[in-house]
Amino acid sequence: MSEIIVALDVPDRERALRLVERLGDTADFYKVGLQLYTAWGPDAVRELRGLGKRVFLDLKLHDIPNTVAEAVRSARELGVELLTVHAAGGRAMLGSAAAAAAERGGTRLLAVTVLTSMDSSELGRTWGRDGLSVEEEVVRLGRMAVEAGLDGLVASGEEAPRLRREFGPRMLIVTPGIRLAGGGHHDQLRVLTPGEAVARGADHLVVGRAVTSAPDPVEALRQVRREAGAA
Ligand code: C5P
Repeated sequence: MSEIIVALDVPDRERALRLVERLGDTADFYKVGLQLYTAWGPDAVRELRGLGKRVFLDLKLHDIPNTVAEAVRSARELGVELLTVHAAGGRAMLGSAAAAAAERGGTRLLAVTVLTSMDSSELGRTWGRDGLSVEEEVVRLGRMAVEAGLDGLVASGEEAPRLRREFGPRMLIVTPGIRLAGGGHHDQLRVLTPGEAVARGADHLVVGRAVTSAPDPVEALRQVRREAGAA
């Protein structure tokens, strides 16, 4: 059964708590990302935990191995259940992060491979190599993360089937870019419905504006759950 993660992409505590109060336990997890974490700080996680909510902290950590390992320990102490790191931080960083998470369990680490905002030419410019295939880079970086002991990957619905084939059923795949049929795309280039994402191998779905900008967010979230459950 896939779990539904609602992205709290709002600028401040008041708006975040208003959403959480409205959506309540219809969401399995709440995602705190860079915007809200920078504005509200670790109290964002503490308050959500205090309300009994499960937290996905999407900070996409990328630094030297020791610094990332310490950040993983801090997140674990806050009660974060899902935490992201950049696979491009390298094998040593990924290994240190995985070891820090494993010291006491409770926090599952997800790797971000290639940002969905990057296409092949941007990827080539960034790495100084022309002709890189985004899909092959996603698989290469994903393999590095899985081999380093991470629990899963953040992956678009497009990438999910290949990653599921490459890495098997035990690896967690968390998929953003979800839209209800007939809803707008916002700034996402490629979107999938909840049912399509689950059919392509996603375990957990991240939904933001399809729910938070809906005229009736609770009903939109219920519809996401129904569609994901029916897939
Ligand atoms: O509003 P929307 O559903 O597009 O929000 C998607 C959420 O998932 C945002 O918090 C965004 O940062 C995150 N995300 C994404 N694509 C990725 C990784 C994360 O959209 N590749």
